[in-house]
Amino acid sequence: MNLKNFFVRKETGNLAELMEEGVPYHVAVIMDGNGRWAKKRGLPRIAGHRAGMESVKSITRAADEIGIRILTLYAFSTENWKRPVQEVDFLMRLPQEFLLMELDTLIKKNVRLQILGDVSALPSHTRESVLEAVDKTASNTGMLLNIALNYGSRAELLAAIKQIAADVRSGSLTIDQINEEAVNSRLLTRGIPDPDLLIRTSGELRLSNFLLWQCAYTELWFTDVLWPDFTKEHFYEAIRAYQKRGRRFGGLK
Ligand code: IPE
Ligand code: IPE
Ligand code: MG
Repeated sequence: MNLKNFFVRKETGNLAELMEEGVPYHVAVIMDGNGRWAKKRGLPRIAGHRAGMESVKSITRAADEIGIRILTLYAFSTENWKRPVQEVDFLMRLPQEFLLMELDTLIKKNVRLQILGDVSALPSHTRESVLEAVDKTASNTGMLLNIALNYGSRAELLAAIKQIAADVRSGSLTIDQINEEAVNSRLLTRGIPDPDLLIRTSGELRLSNFLLWQCAYTELWFTDVLWPDFTKEHFYEAIRAYQKRGRRFGGLK
């Protein structure tokens, strides 16, 4: 038997199996470890961020290939502004660089791009390029790619709480009407079902202010692999692990 064919068949077989088991509808990823990846190689941290962008491309494609409907990637937190200004400047240029390379592919693949986070605080060059891409993909009906950029869960919840308070004061909402749906509909993720699976790379075991409300019953999967080293195969490994979990949502199986 030709060895090359064997590997091709094996790979497609596994993928078909993976899809048959049912893929999660919404996967969220805390893409962490770029700085450590660079440090290990004696490179500046920004080299790690550039390498991490390659993983963003390949994981977006991998998710689309197996029919994941929503992929949410944590790219920059409300706390990441604390980093040295040169690093922040570099990170704020990456979305443009990514879109320059990938926007045509995203459009071709029918992917819809959305930004989660306060875009008004982004530098104008970053804001303009991401909003243009959001606009250009707005009518796409395939996978939804959420990029969490200047996102923080507490800021999101505080904004929702303030809105609820204002609605109560104006009389458009009563206190009795404050329920989960009232909160959900005021979050940046309004209209999007909660993540089924959350992946965090780089060995850190925390949520770092990501989707705190939305992850109430999300399955968590952690790996020591640093984000720039995270491949399609690692991603599918996480999906397989998810497929073996028993989700009870507080009830009984
Ligand atoms: C993740 O990698 C990217 C962002 C948070 C923007 P880090 O930059 O946090 O890399 P480490 O955690 O320092 O290795
Ligand atoms: C979380 O990673 C934010 C992103 C991946 C964008 P951090 O590297 O900022 O998180 P901490 O500081 O280790 O918690
Ligand atoms: Mg980090």
